[in-house]
Amino acid sequence: MAYRILASGAEARERLRVLRCLSSAMLGVALAGGLAGAAEAQNVVLGKQIFQGKINCPECHGWAANGVQEDPRAPRGADLRQTAMDRDTIAKTIQCGLPGTAMPFFDVRAYVDDRCYGMTAAQIGADRPPPGTPNLIQREIDAVADYVIAKVVGRGAITREECIEYFTTDVGRCKDFPSAAAR
Ligand code: HEC
Repeated sequence: MAYRILASGAEARERLRVLRCLSSAMLGVALAGGLAGAAEAQNVVLGKQIFQGKINCPECHGWAANGVQEDPRAPRGADLRQTAMDRDTIAKTIQCGLPGTAMPFFDVRAYVDDRCYGMTAAQIGADRPPPGTPNLIQREIDAVADYVIAKVVGRGAITREECIEYFTTDVGRCKDFPSAAAR
């Protein structure tokens, strides 16, 4: 009898220990999830700063990345709202450019070694895309790709709300777009 009580005491303690472990593991997962979410949101903010300012992707792609250049003299960029590329392919495209097109590369080492599509400048020859300025480090490239995925790809028609969010204020041109509510 005494043994039984002891055993169940030990069992209870063991169960408690397992439960504690489980719940701290679950807490860990929840925390990590929250942190990952916060890190992602931060990436999107950084990505927008680069998209809009440091690089000026809109020069060729348009502020809404619909392929209508802000600068009519710039090459016409692709419509990123309708791209079939996934996040990693978008990041690769920013890093390495698109061979044979005017889409620049932003990795300073692109085509210096063979990190881009396995090709050096000698191997890619005339198809080497133009160098973009300024260069971006991998963290910045990833942030721009995160921004494009979060705010551009698959968005459909441009809305007034999206315009106000992009310009952070209701600039005149936002009136050109219908409100999401009216759609
Ligand atoms: C100098 C003009 C120019 C700038 C600046 C530019 N792009 Fe491009 N981009 C292009 C052109 C041109 C294409 C290819 C169009 C085609 O397919 O012929 C392209 C294609 C792309 C594609 C491939 C889309 C697809 O579905 O094929 C992505 C992604 C892209 N650009 C992202 C960006 C991002 C993000 C930036 C800013 C960091 C940027 N581009 C800056 C001109 C530009």
